[in-house]
Amino acid sequence: MAGSIFGKIFTITTWGESHGPGVGVVIDGCPAGLELVERDIQLDLNKRRPGQSPFCTPRDEADKVKILSGVFEDKTTGTPISLLVYNKDHRSRDYTEIMDTYRPGHADMAYDAKYGFRDYRGGGRSSGRETIARVAAGAIAKKILNELGVQLVTYTKSIGHLTINEANFEASIIYENPFRFPDSELVEPCEEYLNALIKEGNSAGGVIECRVNGLPAGIGQPVFDKLDGLLAHAIMSIGAIKGVEIGAGFGATKMTGYENNDFYKDDHGHIVKESNNAGGMTGGISDGSEIIIRAGVKATPSIHLEQKAINRQGDLIDLVIGGRHDPVIVPRAVIVVENMIAVTLLDLLLQQTATQMDYLKKLFKNDA
Ligand SMILES: Cc1cc2nc3c(=O)[nH]c(=O)nc-3n(C[C@H](O)[C@H](O)[C@H](O)COP(=O)(O)O)c2cc1C
Repeated sequence: MAGSIFGKIFTITTWGESHGPGVGVVIDGCPAGLELVERDIQLDLNKRRPGQSPFCTPRDEADKVKILSGVFEDKTTGTPISLLVYNKDHRSRDYTEIMDTYRPGHADMAYDAKYGFRDYRGGGRSSGRETIARVAAGAIAKKILNELGVQLVTYTKSIGHLTINEANFEASIIYENPFRFPDSELVEPCEEYLNALIKEGNSAGGVIECRVNGLPAGIGQPVFDKLDGLLAHAIMSIGAIKGVEIGAGFGATKMTGYENNDFYKDDHGHIVKESNNAGGMTGGISDGSEIIIRAGVKATPSIHLEQKAINRQGDLIDLVIGGRHDPVIVPRAVIVVENMIAVTLLDLLLQQTATQMDYLKKLFKNDA
């Protein structure tokens, strides 16, 4: 399928369908010599696995990753790394009822219009399962970024009308509650909110936020491959993401220039900012301060409430969707957003090595 490759140096090619034998990714351009074992990738895959709480799809998948190539004696070899995850608990019969129906809010009608063919079993490539490949590739990107001192923290900022209180922020609890909230006070109200929606067969959306620290200034390209542009591309390419904000985001449209401009000051030889409305980048290039990105996630389209839909013949019908679905996608998408950000940042960092004569001399000139 065209459009399944992302990146220029650290490239990822994802493949596989929700109800096919498996899904996977080929990563080309990963530097040799990185220590890598399956567990490094598995830890991140476990964070998006289904069936972990009553607030995600009960589809029971172990999502065990297998490294097929590109690693020898627990070190990357510099050749393509191929990763495979088998699908085990797919029940295609759940979808036979909707094989001639277009689910509102899902990609069914658009895929049919594009290909004149429809893989109705679980959404095929438009399924959330495709994101396994992104998470696996991002786990490797993050390992490299971490060795370079770049750290990412990603969490649920809001679900429905419930938004975290920054004063309660605790990074250590993000993966200790089913919603990936850094604010423990929101867990109970969210359970109540979602239980009520599940009871009526409905779903919710929300906002994911990522903060990146340690990224040096100068990362990102000046025109088509701006840091903010590529981040938006990477994040918007995830199913159900409907918006991306950097820094103050749409809030900046309500500020005057004086309010919005970040004020730089010198703190013992370092340039630091008092505000960070730009979210760590200007001109599409990082400025060395914290990168702040938000992703808006829509409510899960496949709901059990009866709704109007059309079928392939164009008839209007009353549709009740069966099968197993996430009542809210946000918690499982937290690691997907984080890892797509990691893939994007690493690719741009690698591109940066070719932007200054000084870098080239340090790498290649014998007497440097
Ligand atoms: C991690 C993840 C899990 C998802 N789970 C479901 C699901 O259970 N049911 C569903 O209808 N959509 C689910 N989606 C969303 C669909 O993939 C997405 O809405 C669909 O492809 C249409 O694309 P769009 O919403 O970007 O327009 C999930 C997405 C992600 C990223």
